[in-house]
Amino acid sequence: MKGSLTGKVYLVGAGPGDPELLTVKARALLDRAGVVLHDDLVSAEIISLIPPQTEIVNVGKRSGLKKITQNEINERMIAFAKRGLQVVRLKSGDPAIFGRLAEETDALEAADILFEVVPGITAGIAAAASLRVSLTDRRSSSRVVIVSGHPSGENENQEKIDWKNLVTPESTLVIYMPGHDFSRLREEFLAAGLASGVPAVLVSQASTPRQQQYCTRVGEMHKLPPLPAPAILLIGRSLERAHRRSSAENLSLALDEADLVISAK
Ligand SMILES: C[S@@+](CC[C@H](N)C(=O)[O-])C[C@H]1O[C@@H](n2cnc3c(N)ncnc32)[C@H](O)[C@@H]1O
Repeated sequence: MKGSLTGKVYLVGAGPGDPELLTVKARALLDRAGVVLHDDLVSAEIISLIPPQTEIVNVGKRSGLKKITQNEINERMIAFAKRGLQVVRLKSGDPAIFGRLAEETDALEAADILFEVVPGITAGIAAAASLRVSLTDRRSSSRVVIVSGHPSGENENQEKIDWKNLVTPESTLVIYMPGHDFSRLREEFLAAGLASGVPAVLVSQASTPRQQQYCTRVGEMHKLPPLPAPAILLIGRSLERAHRRSSAENLSLALDEADLVISAK
């Protein structure tokens, strides 16, 4: 496949970090790619699966090419494809969720480059799975809202998030890029009519060995710790199970500690 006459760009979802959550198709494309352009959030474990002879370019805006713009990323993809290479544009999670996929496919279309989108497991779905919860529940949660915690998440013209329109008792909110200002989010949620007892769970580095999560309720969200990035916030009645389990785990931890105290006596 390498160096064939017509290049093609594959916009591939790398999933949340665990290499076992890569799709079979993503794995095969990584094995055959002529060049891989990846974002910062693609885990080191996944990058290490790319064959050593393959050119790898970190086009992430944080740790890679520090000043690279979206236009320059588009130009690089196009230039590699015009050289006849099979280009894998590797994005964390799913490329169609807060991944600037539309801007890249527009550029590829305008340059007349063949492309294909290969889905991946998005962070919100992986976070829910790690908590062993269902984001929908016939009895309580009939809709899932995928939203960025920053107004400019995917729409640079948006100034404020209209939580009132998103928050209903039946909604599970999956909030990407929630930032650290949980006091502000708490105020906005309460003002939008969300009950203070609704469970809220912050999941950091979902699916990796470094995963941490913190369960609380909307009314207590100002106490959420700033867990390491990337982190995602899940809110809704569907998270009650995660809450119950974390309380049970804390209780059993407290009991273990009590046992230790007793046996030390
Ligand atoms: C620019 S968005 C990219 C989302 C990605 N396309 C996806 O589908 O997961 C980056 C945000 O995704 C979330 N995220 C990505 N990977 C994550 C992970 N392993 N654990 C928790 N949140 C993650 C965080 O909210 C992070 O700020």
